[in-house]
Amino acid sequence: MTVRTVGLLGGGVIGGGWAARFLLNGYDVVLYDPDPAAPRRVGEQLDNARRSLAALTLVPLPIEGRLTFTADPEEAAACADFVQESAPERIELKQALLATASRAARTDVVIASSTSGLRPSLLQRDMAGPERFTVGHPFNPVYLLPLVELCGGELTEPNTLDRAAELYGAVGMRPLRLKNEIDGFIADRLLEALWREALWLVNDGIATVEEIDDAIRFGPGLRWSVMGTFLLYRIAGGDEGVRHFMHQFGPALEWPWTKLTDVPELTDELLATLERQSDAQANGRSIRELERLRDDCLVSVLQALRVHDVGAGSTLRRYEGTLLARQSPDGAGTPLLLHETRISPAWIDYNGHATESAYLRMASEATDALLASIGVDADYVASGRSYYTVETHIRHLNESHADDKVGVTTQLLGADDKRLHVFHRVMRGDDLLATAEQMLLHVDTTRGRAAPAPASVLARVRQISEAQASLPAPDGVGRRIEAPVGSRP
Ligand SMILES: NC(=O)c1ccc[n+]([C@@H]2O[C@H](COP(=O)([O-])OP(=O)(O)OC[C@H]3O[C@@H](n4cnc5c(N)ncnc54)[C@H](O)[C@@H]3O)[C@@H](O)[C@H]2O)c1
Repeated sequence: MTVRTVGLLGGGVIGGGWAARFLLNGYDVVLYDPDPAAPRRVGEQLDNARRSLAALTLVPLPIEGRLTFTADPEEAAACADFVQESAPERIELKQALLATASRAARTDVVIASSTSGLRPSLLQRDMAGPERFTVGHPFNPVYLLPLVELCGGELTEPNTLDRAAELYGAVGMRPLRLKNEIDGFIADRLLEALWREALWLVNDGIATVEEIDDAIRFGPGLRWSVMGTFLLYRIAGGDEGVRHFMHQFGPALEWPWTKLTDVPELTDELLATLERQSDAQANGRSIRELERLRDDCLVSVLQALRVHDVGAGSTLRRYEGTLLARQSPDGAGTPLLLHETRISPAWIDYNGHATESAYLRMASEATDALLASIGVDADYVASGRSYYTVETHIRHLNESHADDKVGVTTQLLGADDKRLHVFHRVMRGDDLLATAEQMLLHVDTTRGRAAPAPASVLARVRQISEAQASLPAPDGVGRRIEAPVGSRP
């Protein structure tokens, strides 16, 4: 399945998150939402996502896709290679919307719903081609959290889930396929139990919302992203494992501590209490501020998990692997594609072409990406070490115009323990627009002197250098401006 354009139905919290995930992975998005405020909200999500993904991974992302809004759900479905519905959680509304989309979409297009818990068999009921329908239930923020639960209905073909899983995997997600159709899938059944119990604790005046959040974030919440729940109980059972744990704590389930499936009545009094306590907890912080705090911490957690190759950190590693493979399919034996962009109208000079500084800027972006990929990131620089560019030579070979899509490939020409000699090519498709040759020097920034790079960085440099060893020296390497030109005035 080749997906280039994704049609989104609904651009709220979840639809906006999907827009960001697909766009930042290079897919074009056509979005339908009847609310005129949707473009603003999606734009805000996209800003948050750009900021988070730039910090999340050292590997450069593909060039961002194009976002188009439409006032017509049929148009969003008709021009899409994959459709994701994220409209309000009302069954009649979703059934009608999915039926409309299914008649407009090509018959080979998978149509997925973000529903938090509605059964797929009910949602696909009125669709044309219901066999290509699946639930693809994500988690907020969709652009950072990898989990997406896949659940087909009675009429869904298994191949539909394969195709959806392939696309979700390509954008860095972790598809979890349910073997059976069930209301609420897996995660929301667990979350609902927690949420119901939390509401009881507030309703009965036993704890405030802040105390409940503290009970999670200072204890079990820290463990969950590493081990889920069963692996933790195995450890808690000691050498005798899960059987011992069940023996010790199982009987408590019979007492029971919790209110099971009883639901507190959502009285005005309970809602007012929740609102008051939640306002106090936010302490004047806006939703945007809270979102950024959440996202910054999620990025740090994902990066820590990546180091240990567990849970969502393993997904991040695999995702970075596919991003790198996409750049150099034969195993890095080609120049690395380290930066992609569009020529901004602001970079165009009086001749109608991108000006010199634009090329230097693109070369610098590629250099930064190269440095990040060998471990020279913000923490490294903060530790008092960095590479400084000591020389750049740019050749302008072709003209580029506003909105041209360009990529910068990088070849490592030589390296020793203090120096990197790199050669960037600025390409528009197969056209070579410019080259930039650079010499970088490794520096101890606290002492202001050149110093050898550490073994970890040199090992990564060696890897790239060995992978590119068979590449011929680029045309134009080592060029300089010949002097003198004509006679001196
Ligand atoms: N919020 C979450 O944490 C979360 C998590 C996972 C899944 N979901 C599911 O995602 C879906 C969307 O939830 P949300 O939180 O983004 O809600 P939301 O209220 O933030 O967004 C819903 C959007 O749908 C738009 N809309 C209204 N009528 C529409 C129609 N006929 N066609 C298309 N769009 C329409 C609204 O204008 C709004 O922008 C729901 O099914 C929900 O269960 C939500």
